[in-house]
Amino acid sequence: MVVDKSKVVYQIYPKSFKDTTGNGIGDFRGIIEKIPYLKELGVDMVWLNPFYPSPQRDNGYDISDYKAINPLFGDMADFEEMIEAGKEQGIEFMLDMVLNHCSIEHEWFQKALAGDEYYQDFFILREEPTDWVSKFGGSAWAPFGDTGKYYLHLFDESQADLNWRNPQVRKELFQVVNFWKDKGVKGFRFDVINLIGKDEVLENCPINDGKPAYTDRPITHDYLQMMNKATFGADESFMTVGEMSSTTIENCVLYSAPDRNELSMAFNFHHLKVDYEEGQKWTLKAFDFEELKTLFHTWGQEMSEQNGWSALFWNNHDQPRALNRFVDVKQFRSEGATMLAASIHLSRGTPYIYMGEEIGMLDPDYDSMADYVDVESLNAYRILLAEGKSEEEALAIIKAKSRDNTRIPMQWDASLNAGFSTGTPWLKVGKSYQTINVEAEQKGLIFNFYKELIALRKKEKIIAEGNYVPAFVDSQQIYAFERQYQGQKLLVLNNFYADAVSLTLPEEYREAQVLIGNYADSKIDESICLRAYETLAIILR
Ligand code: GLC
Repeated sequence: MVVDKSKVVYQIYPKSFKDTTGNGIGDFRGIIEKIPYLKELGVDMVWLNPFYPSPQRDNGYDISDYKAINPLFGDMADFEEMIEAGKEQGIEFMLDMVLNHCSIEHEWFQKALAGDEYYQDFFILREEPTDWVSKFGGSAWAPFGDTGKYYLHLFDESQADLNWRNPQVRKELFQVVNFWKDKGVKGFRFDVINLIGKDEVLENCPINDGKPAYTDRPITHDYLQMMNKATFGADESFMTVGEMSSTTIENCVLYSAPDRNELSMAFNFHHLKVDYEEGQKWTLKAFDFEELKTLFHTWGQEMSEQNGWSALFWNNHDQPRALNRFVDVKQFRSEGATMLAASIHLSRGTPYIYMGEEIGMLDPDYDSMADYVDVESLNAYRILLAEGKSEEEALAIIKAKSRDNTRIPMQWDASLNAGFSTGTPWLKVGKSYQTINVEAEQKGLIFNFYKELIALRKKEKIIAEGNYVPAFVDSQQIYAFERQYQGQKLLVLNNFYADAVSLTLPEEYREAQVLIGNYADSKIDESICLRAYETLAIILR
C-alpha cells in the first residue's frame, strides 16, 4: 500500500462548518454548499469528524450506532449526495472510525448490561479495577451495572472500551469499515487506534497514569493487519491514518511502512506538548523551541530513513489553535500563520489543514466558563478548582487549553454568527469573526499562501517525495530542514520568533532560487536575515 504523497487533507468538524437548517448545528448540505470553496483551496480529501448517532457526551466520539447518520447532520441521501458532489470536483472523503470504544447506549453495551453473555464479551470487564486513570480524569473503570464487575473506559464513562481479543468484535467492526467503504469514501481516520490492543491480563501501572500498560501493545499491529486485509487493503488508492496516542517512532514506522500492510500514515502529538509544564496539559507555559525543533528533527529524520510516513498537522478538533500557542498574534498573525503552514507543508509527510487554519482563525477568547461545553474541559475545570486553583486561574488555563477553542463555528463572513448559522450556534462564535473570516481572507496573505503551498506539492516532486535532513540544528530560533530528491535540494528556513535572525547560507545554496516565502522581497545572499516569523524555501535544481 503506497500512499499518494502529493495529497493534502482538510479536516471538517461537521457540527461547526456550515448550518443550512438554522438549528445551530452544521450539516451535510452545508458541506455540499462549500465544496467549491474547498476546490478553490485545492485540497484533495476531506476528513469528517464523527456524524453517527450518538448521545454527544464526547461530541460524537461516543457512537451508539455505527452504520447510521445522526439526523442532526442530515440523512443517508444527503450523505451520498455529498460524496457525489465531492467526486465531481475531485474531492474525496475520509471518515472517522471510532473503534476503540462505543457509547454505553450502543445496543451491544445495553444487551451486555441486560445479562447477555455474548455481548458481555464485547467489553473489557474485570472483578478488580486496575489503577489506570481515564484520559478525561478519574478512574478508567466504572461499575458494570449491579454485577459487582467493572468495565474499562479509557475516555469518558459513557465510552466503553471494546474487546478486540474477541473475534466477533473484530468481525462486527470490520463490517462497519466495509459498510462506509461501500458508500464510496476513499479514506479513514482511525481514532486512538494504538489503544485497541489490550493484554489478556491487565496489570496495575503507576507510570504515566497507566498508559504504558495499554498503549502500542504488540498485538495492535496484528489487529491492524487483519483489518487492512478484511477491509481497505486491496484498494491502492485508499488513504488511512491512525491517531496514535503517546506513541513512539519505532511503532509509527511499523504502523505506516508500506510493506507492513497496516495504515498509510500515523498522527503523533509530541510536538503539541512542548507547552505543557512537566507533561501536564492543564498548565500554562511558553513553548519550548528547543524541544519542538529536536522532536521535528528526530521524527522527520527517522521516519525518512526507515520509510515510515507521518500525518503532519498543527491543529485539530482536540487542540487550541497553534497560532495562539506559537505566535505573537497581536502583531504578526499573518506572518506567523504562513510560517507555521510552510513548516509542515514543505516537510516530509501528508499535511492536514484544520478548518479555519487557512484563514488564520484564532481561539474564541470566551469570558466565562459558561461558554464551554466540552466534557474534558468541564472535568478539568472541576479538578483544577479541587486542586486549589482560583476560579480565575482555572478559567485562564481552560481558555488556553480547551478543545472548544477549535470547535467553534467556521468564520465565513462578518454577518451574524460569522455566516455559520441563522440560528443560535451550538457553541458560541469567536470574538474575532468580524475581521477574520473567509470573505476577508480570500484576498489576504494566509489563504493564498495555503493555496500556493498545496499547488506546489503537486508540482514539485521534491516536496512530496524528498528525504528529510535536519539543518541548522543549533539555531535557537530557526527551525530548518533540507529535502533531497534525485539530485535536487530544497532548504526550508522558518523563524519561530518575532525577532529577526541572520544566518550564513551554505556555499552550494548561493546558486539556489526562491521557491516560496511569506515576505515579498526575499533575496538569496551569503548572509540571510529572516524577519519576524519569516519562512523562506529555496531550491537547488
Ligand atoms: C480522540 C478524538 C477525541 C476523542 C477521543 C475519544 O482523541 O480525537 O476527540 O475525545 O479520541 O474518542
